[in-house]
Amino acid sequence: MEKILVTGGAGFIGSNFIRYMLQEHPYHIINLDALTYCGNLENLRGVEDDPRYTFVRGSITDRKLVDGIIKDVDAVINFAAESHVDRSIEDPEIFIRTNILGTQTLLEASRKHGVERFIQISTDEVYGSAEKGYFTEETPLAPNSPYSASKASADLMVRAYHRTYGLPVNITRCSNNYGPYQFPEKLIPLMITNALENKPLPVYGDGMNVRDWIHVLDHCRAVDLVLHRGRVGEVYNIGGNSERRNIEIVELIVRELGRDESLIRFVEDRPGHDRRYAIDASKIRNELGWKPLYSFEEGIRETIRWYIDNRDWWENIKSGEYLRYYERMYGGR
Ligand code: NAD
Ligand code: DAU
Repeated sequence: MEKILVTGGAGFIGSNFIRYMLQEHPYHIINLDALTYCGNLENLRGVEDDPRYTFVRGSITDRKLVDGIIKDVDAVINFAAESHVDRSIEDPEIFIRTNILGTQTLLEASRKHGVERFIQISTDEVYGSAEKGYFTEETPLAPNSPYSASKASADLMVRAYHRTYGLPVNITRCSNNYGPYQFPEKLIPLMITNALENKPLPVYGDGMNVRDWIHVLDHCRAVDLVLHRGRVGEVYNIGGNSERRNIEIVELIVRELGRDESLIRFVEDRPGHDRRYAIDASKIRNELGWKPLYSFEEGIRETIRWYIDNRDWWENIKSGEYLRYYERMYGGR
């Protein structure tokens, strides 16, 4: 393998992944990203000058562009997506276009040009809500939001391209990521940056929903292992084994930043809000020898420090398009 296409590399996980891969491997990385509201080339500070890195601005739904890029690459790793559940509830259509049609466009070019490996970055949300027990790779798909339904649809298309055309694929399904460069619409960066600005901290419903948190670099290491050693056609769950209630996280951030708990506001719940996600990652642990290296407590402290030290990065975001979205979502609360 020499050349890898990473899509969505200007987003949160994709940018961490590109930096990680350039450090760990000699590959040339092409980053195809449409630079939507959350795609930000600032996330790749320091990487632009690397001769093994090329940026292409464009959409994964653009057949001609995608075909022209994929004819020269050995592997495709598809991070590009509309990724925010609340936005999918507001307006699902772009989720269908990007997450389903975009994935199919990449699959079609990959099949035509015979790529060595196609990795679909999926999510634990495709399994729905885990009222008890853990999601394994055998858990039936039961997505509850337009976002997760679009990701599950893409997964089924990836599966079909493997079964029908023999495309060498893997699907990874990871739990909630946190870490540097996460867009401040997601729980952890939203709470950190609002607390830093002494703004209200909006907690949905009773705050007792549970997510299974993983540091983004542990996710990146897992994807690297699947790319090199994953068995063709297999799905791999990835999870940090760090279940926390939302309210616990918000209280921890308030404490760490020395703010007052009166900033916390319980607001109207998210429609169709999944109660709990919980990943059983024993397949990737046993087959590929992966395990998370970060403890949640260590990772969250490091992440809080990153947002304190990189105020310019998130202040730029919060003063742009995101401000209009935030006012629509939380205006008056
Ligand atoms: P993100 O929203 O931060 O980044 C998504 C990136 O995709 C952005 O750079 C955006 O510009 C780009 N993009 C969007 N539409 C595009 C298009 N049509 N063509 C090309 N690029 C496009 O998302 P993230 O949190 O980094 O998530 C990355 C992937 O990982 C997604 O597929 C998501 O479903 C999956 N995932 C995320 C998490 C998480 O906790 N964040 C967990 C599991 C899986
Ligand atoms: O599980 C993996 C998924 O994690 C990824 O596939 C998604 O791309 C990613 O966005 C994330 O989805 P969630 O919906 O779990 O993440 P979010 O950060 O939006 O919310 C986490 C929890 O916090 C959820 O229970 C809703 C709650 N929440 C969120 C926001 C933004 C709040 O209570 N208040 C908020 O303001």
